[in-house]
Amino acid sequence: MLVSAKEMLDKAKAGHYAVGQFNINNLEWTKAILLTAEECKSPVILGVSEGAGKYMTGFKTVAAMVKAMDESLGITVPVALHLDHGTYEGTKACIEAGFTSVMFDGSHFPIEENVAKTTELVNAAHHLGLSIEAEVGAIGGEEDGVIGKGECADPNECKQIADLGVDFLAAGIGNIHGVYPANWEGLSFETLEAIKNTVGDMPLVLHGGTGIPDDQITKAISLGVAKINVNTECQLVFADATRGYIEAGKDKQGKGFDPRKLLAPGFEAIKAKVKEKMELFGSVNKA
Ligand code: 13P
Repeated sequence: MLVSAKEMLDKAKAGHYAVGQFNINNLEWTKAILLTAEECKSPVILGVSEGAGKYMTGFKTVAAMVKAMDESLGITVPVALHLDHGTYEGTKACIEAGFTSVMFDGSHFPIEENVAKTTELVNAAHHLGLSIEAEVGAIGGEEDGVIGKGECADPNECKQIADLGVDFLAAGIGNIHGVYPANWEGLSFETLEAIKNTVGDMPLVLHGGTGIPDDQITKAISLGVAKINVNTECQLVFADATRGYIEAGKDKQGKGFDPRKLLAPGFEAIKAKVKEKMELFGSVNKA
């Protein structure tokens, strides 16, 4: 059933585990993640970037596909359909399109503007029963040209945004999107601890889940992280599996590939990756 992410993340925070957010790009990814969540009896969050939303012809298409697929597959675990790194306009569009959760990323605005826009969107989301995530302290990545270390959020700004009524908070603690560079300094647990102490019970979100060593993931969960986003790792295993299939020459004697067979190894690779993460995050059998 599609639900807001609030209850599953409050439970995760209280139970000292984290729920994975896995980004979707198409039907195969969505199906692989839903089936794995059901097999693992784990709650799950399907993340949709604005780019992926556009690729799938719009947020309404995504909401309709996910709702129908959740029903057709007989999924019984809690599933949240969540906008990832929404703009102000994109967040409003997803609230109207039938998403059950949104993230408004106002981290690049001056704090006053982030506060004003987040306040408006918290009200709009809660009015329709959606959960909402906000961000403080930009989380870098290759596309931003950040090398070595992501930004660390100011704990006082985190408190200011948390107090607006957001349901969970993404705060930069040295994490970045994509593959971490060799000179990455690791997560700043000092920052995480300071944020936890200012925001109290609010579930915290760790973006850039790809490539963070397992022991740092476990420590972050012990310090209040209840949602972990993973995208690049799924992309990498999907690409490897697809490449392997093509290189093995499994085509129809020069007449092309059956697209369902072509995508099957990538589908299985995503299922295995999602299962591995659910085990690491401790969300198995928590549905
Ligand atoms: P990665 O691509 O580094 O796994 O990060 C995903 C993410 O944080 C999406 O918001």
